[in-house]
Amino acid sequence: MKIFIDSAEIDLIREAYSWGIVDGITTNPSLIKKAVEKLKSKGDKTSIEDYIKRILEAAGDSPVSLEVIGTTEAEMTKQGLFLYERFNPIAHNVVVKVPVNTSTEPGQSIRYDGLKTIKTLAGEGIPINTTLIFTPEQAMLAAKAGSAFVSPFAGRVDDEMRKKSAFAGDRNSYFPQEGAEKEGVLVHDNGVASGVQLVADIVDLFAAQDLDCEVLAASLRTPRQVRECALAGSDCATIPFEVIRDMVDHYKTIEGMIAFVKDVVPEYAELFKQAK
Ligand code: E4P
Repeated sequence: MKIFIDSAEIDLIREAYSWGIVDGITTNPSLIKKAVEKLKSKGDKTSIEDYIKRILEAAGDSPVSLEVIGTTEAEMTKQGLFLYERFNPIAHNVVVKVPVNTSTEPGQSIRYDGLKTIKTLAGEGIPINTTLIFTPEQAMLAAKAGSAFVSPFAGRVDDEMRKKSAFAGDRNSYFPQEGAEKEGVLVHDNGVASGVQLVADIVDLFAAQDLDCEVLAASLRTPRQVRECALAGSDCATIPFEVIRDMVDHYKTIEGMIAFVKDVVPEYAELFKQAK
């Protein structure tokens, strides 16, 4: 499974890339807002354009998702073309992120504009990451429209299920893949009982329908959720810096290291003096 960092903060991005296990970056308007506020608080006057260029350079040849901000097909197509034309020449790694449905109320006429935009931009050869996916059906439509990636928001599904089931814990705590019950009945959203189940269902649906689109599990909050997405066969997972960092920790590893460090005999230490 490819590991992407879900961040627009250049220092965190560079640090995570230095670990040698990061395969891409995803941003969204909220993550850009956080990064811009951090820059301003430090008195850094870098323009947003230069800042985005730094992110693209830090990613090397790995993909970086940049999101459009419009809600209509005309706006999003214009913005997607702009993002790709302006930024792809920097490192040839831009993926345009488009919401699957930009309605702000149910039933609006713009509900298909996301799909139309994906179709048009993908037709221009621009790789698309379709975002805000909450059902396997949305993922199927995005894939059919030509999206290269779909981003199911696993953590936000779990937030809803936790609330409806009164399952204990906050947004950063583990929520079971099999879902949770309320008064003995499984809580679900039209058959989706957890974020990991959503990811797993999309993986299965794409395989069953032979759809050529990568599943990019998103909105991940815990290492165990990442593990379950990998076991479900997700192609990629976009993960916050702190969660990638926590994935390498285990108290028994620390315990083991303490013992190894303590047990080094002088003869063995002497041997390494020959290392060049
Ligand atoms: C995906 O690409 C989004 O940037 C992100 O994963 C959303 O995560 P959140 O639900 O923690 O905001």
